[in-house]
Formats: sequence, C-alpha cells, structure tokens
Amino acid sequence: MTKFFLNDKEVTAEENETIWQVAKKNGLTIPHLCYSDKPGYRADGNCRACMVSIEGERVLAASCIRKPSEGMKVSTTDERSEKSRKMILELLVTDQPEKTDCHDPDSHFWKIADDLEVKKSRFDKRESKIVPESDNSHVAMAVNLDACINCNLCVRACREVQVNDVIGMGNRGHVSQVIFDFDDPMGDSSCVSCGECVQACPTGALMESNLLNENGKKVVNADRKVDSLCPYCGVGCQLTYNIKDEKIVSVDGREGPANHNRLCVKGRFGFDYVHNPERITKPLIRKKGIKKDPKEKLDPLNPLSHFREATWEEALDLAASKLSSIRDAKGGDDALAGFGCAKGSNEEAYLFQKLIRVGFRNNNVDHCTRMCHASSVAALMEAIGTGAVTAPVSEVKNAEVAILIGCRPTQNHPVAATFIKNAVKKKWT
Ligand code: SF4
Ligand code: SF4
Ligand code: FES
Repeated sequence: MTKFFLNDKEVTAEENETIWQVAKKNGLTIPHLCYSDKPGYRADGNCRACMVSIEGERVLAASCIRKPSEGMKVSTTDERSEKSRKMILELLVTDQPEKTDCHDPDSHFWKIADDLEVKKSRFDKRESKIVPESDNSHVAMAVNLDACINCNLCVRACREVQVNDVIGMGNRGHVSQVIFDFDDPMGDSSCVSCGECVQACPTGALMESNLLNENGKKVVNADRKVDSLCPYCGVGCQLTYNIKDEKIVSVDGREGPANHNRLCVKGRFGFDYVHNPERITKPLIRKKGIKKDPKEKLDPLNPLSHFREATWEEALDLAASKLSSIRDAKGGDDALAGFGCAKGSNEEAYLFQKLIRVGFRNNNVDHCTRMCHASSVAALMEAIGTGAVTAPVSEVKNAEVAILIGCRPTQNHPVAATFIKNAVKKKWT
C-alpha cells in the first residue's frame, strides 16, 4: 500500500493502482479519453487528457498510467494541469465534426469536452484531403474516422481484450489512422463482429450503423435501458438492451462474472428476432379439417391459413387433454417423456420435472445439456468427484495447462474463448 496526497488529502493506493484509479475510488473522475477503466483494458497514456501535476516534477503526468509513490503530492486542481487538459480537448475538437453535425453528440468525448467547457477551437483544421472517408461496408457497424482521435482504444479492444487482431494503426504521423487487416474495408476484413470496438470508442467514430441516418448522424436515441442476460449460448453474458419505442435498438455488454462487459456477435447484434413479424405471440390451434402434411409449406407470416388464435387457457387445456389421452391409452412409462431446455431457470426446470412426474406419471425427464455435457460430467465425476463446473472460464489465466477436446470455443462460446485467448497471449507466447 502506498500513501500519498491527492489535492492535499491523504489517500491510499493498492499495489499497481494508478493515480487515476485512486482518484476515482475517492470520488474524483479525472477527464480521460484513451483510458477505459473497464476490466481487461490496459492504460496506454497517449491522449494526455488526464494530466495532473506532481509537486517537485518539471512536467505534468498522465494520471491514467502513472503510479503514485509514498508521500507524493498530486494536484488535479492547479491552474497548470487544468489548462493543459483543456488545451488537449481544444486541440482534439479542432479536427472533430462540429458537435451540431457530429456522429454522436452523446459520446464520451463530447461529454468530457462539455465538462471542461470546450466548445470550439482556435486552431486550423487538418486538410480535408487527409480526412478518411466513411466506411459503411459492414452490415452492422459504421466507420467514420473523421471523428477518430487515434486514442487506440479500439485497437486494444480488438487485439488485447477480444484477441481478434483485426484492427491496427496504419501509416505514420499526421496521416496515421485506424485500419482493418491490411487496410481493407471493415466489411471485407476478418472482423468477427463482436462490436467490442464500438463499445470502446469514445467519439462515435465506430458505431452501430442502425443508430445512424444516411449521413452517419445518430438519429436513434434509446428512451430506456433494460438489464438482461444474453439469450444465446451458455456462457451467460450480462448485457443491457437499449430500447426505443418498445424496440431493442442496440446492446451494450454489462459487467458480469462470465463476460466482464464483453459480448460476441450474437449477444451484440442478434436481437432482430425479437421483433420479427414471423414470431408467434399468441397461442394457435390447428383449424378443424386442416390435416398435417409435411410436404406443405406454411407461410410463417400467415399462420392463420392453417391455425386459429386461442386463449392460453384453451390451448393449455387442449395440450393437456391430448397428452393425458396418450398416457391413458398407451401407458405413461412407454409413451411419454419430457426434454426440457437447459436455458430455463431453476424454477422452470423444477416445474417441468413436476409436470412429467405428476402429469405423465413417470421419471422420463431430462434436458439438453446432458447431450453435450454428459462426457464432461463423467470425466469430472471420475477425476474430482463432482460433475459440476469448478471454476469460471476466466480462471484459465491461472492454469499451467489448458486442454481443449472436441470443442470450438471461438465459434460456439466466443466470449469464453476470449479469456482463453487472453491467457494464451499472456502466458504461453
Ligand atoms: S476509432 Fe474510436 S476507439 Fe478507435 S482510435 Fe479512433 S476514436 Fe479511438
Ligand atoms: S458468448 Fe456470445 S452468445 Fe454466448 S452468452 Fe456471450 S454474447 Fe451470448
Ligand atoms: S486518458 Fe490518460 S493519457 Fe489518455
């Protein structure tokens, strides 16, 4: 532990904590752009928006990367560091599209500029011929590098957090810019569409394209947020749905033990099914006289050609009467079984087994996880005496050896795979 002074108040830093982190712990958020305090993001110290002064030191220090030493006296409120932070923002505002015409006026960048009361710049803009053109080649993400501040957060998001190694910085000096693979359009690159870069970008240079109009301006603003859980694979990523007019418009990864804010393409962009008009939202019962014909194609937009709408009571009564007539005619044990979905909650699983045992009067009840998990349960039982998972995937970072058999985590459980890739990159390369 290190004791030092922050604006004349004695504070304590844990090992490896930076001045910025200690300040935040003490209720003071120092402006920051190239630094993200989300798990997995390394400080890079390149934007200088977080400068503070340290007594006895000639130059200002970037608080996001500088660690305090015993007895150090740090000031965030002196005129020199305040002016420096403001100047950095003014310089960056110079090359941004005007706030009234920018891609995302609600971005972190404009929030920091507003906090520092930087509205416009006294400096000359860069020549328009070196401003990168918009890239709308990707189906779900828009690239508008006229708003890019080269903070490098998307590069770390792609290379170090999700370990996809698609984004890098190309060129040198004042023409350096974000590129995908070998300067390919994003849509043609090897991008796996996890959207981590969009989530990390502080300026709106990388954004979900469905939020923008044809000129690349944000026109879709969520009116509420709902915390939820990704409905796809078993990794269990926590997320937040951004909702406008009762429709999901975008998704943010949320801090959770399994994902630490990360998402994959499914969790990030796979939400359009919710509003798909082909979804059945009311119980349907086959119309009298319409026989089942496997060769016949049903138009999913028009199920009423074969079915009629019913109330839940009527539909459940019908299903119950048909199932009990099978049970009574053919003998419960042989005729009926129940396979539940492993994605149901514990309460749902309990009710499901109750239905089978009490309603069907047998113990033929199982769920889908046993199909894919049976071999690992047997191996775990034999090796350590329990079939339950013993550690989160992220604990792979503490393993000496990781053996993967018969699985493709990067495709089937992409966020879990990021933690394996993190460990491989850190420890074994
Ligand atoms: S695209 Fe966004 S995250 Fe990437 S360097 Fe530019 S401003 Fe930073
Ligand atoms: S890995 Fe992807 S599909 Fe699985 S829970 Fe996480 S975001 Fe959803
Ligand atoms: S936030 Fe510290 S240098 Fe960018």
